[in-house]
Amino acid sequence: MPLLTTPALAPGALARHPQPTIDAGDLRLRPWQPTDHPAVVAAYADPAVQRWHCRTLTDDEAHAWIAAWPGRWQQETGAGWAVTDDSGVLGQISLRAIDLADAQGEVSYWVLPAARGRGVAARALTALTTFSFDRLGLHRVWLRHSTGNPASCRVAERAGLPAEGTNRGGARHADGWHDMHLHARLRTDT
Ligand SMILES: CC(C)(COP(=O)(O)OP(=O)(O)OC[C@H]1O[C@@H](n2cnc3c(N)ncnc32)[C@H](O)[C@@H]1OP(=O)(O)O)[C@@H](O)C(=O)NCCC(=O)NCCS
Repeated sequence: MPLLTTPALAPGALARHPQPTIDAGDLRLRPWQPTDHPAVVAAYADPAVQRWHCRTLTDDEAHAWIAAWPGRWQQETGAGWAVTDDSGVLGQISLRAIDLADAQGEVSYWVLPAARGRGVAARALTALTTFSFDRLGLHRVWLRHSTGNPASCRVAERAGLPAEGTNRGGARHADGWHDMHLHARLRTDT
C-alpha cells in the first residue's frame, strides 16, 4: 500500500556524522566509553533505577549495553550519552527510540544516586532537546514516566516538555500496571 506522506527525515540524519558530544553548560553529554562500565553497573544496582526502568544488568550486560550504542547511532534507531562533569559520569540520557519518518524521539534518563538533587537530568534533557531539534531536525521529543514518579515529572516540566495527558495502565512495572504521564516538546513550541 503506497504511503501518502513522505518521510519527514531521510535516512542519514544521524549516521552521516559521528555521534557528537553535546555541551550543557557545566555538564557534557558524551558518547559512552568502555571505561564507564562501573557507573552503569552502579546505576542498575540502585533500587530507584530498577523500579522505574524495570531492569537490572549483570556485568556482561553492562558491557553489552555500552557497546550497543554506536551501532544504534549508525542504524539511527537510538542514541545514548553519558552525562558527565569534571568528576566523571553523573547519569545517562538517551533517545531510546528514534522515528525518522515522523521526526520523533523518545527520551530516557537516570542520574546516579550521588549526583541527584542538583538538576542534572533537567539540564541534560534541555540540552538534548535543543540538539534534537537543531542538529537532528526532529519535530517532536517526548517521554513517558509513571505517575508514581513525581521527580521525573518535574524534570520534564523544568526542561520544557509539558504534560500532554495520561496513558492509563500504559506500562507494566514489577508491581503491575502503572498509569503513565506523557510529556512532549515540539520544535515549533516557543
Ligand atoms: C528522576 C531523576 C533522573 C532526577 O534526578 P535529578 O536530575 O538529580 O533530579 P533532582 O533531584 O534535581 O530533582 C528534580 C526535580 O524533582 C523534584 N523531586 C525530586 N525528588 C522528588 C520526589 N520524590 N517527589 C517530588 N518531587 C521530587 C525536585 O524537587 C526537583 O524539582 P524542581 O525542578 O521543581 O526543583 C533521578 O531521581 C533518577 O535517576 N531516578 C531514578 C530513575 C528514574 O526515575 N528515571 C526516570 C524514569 S521516567
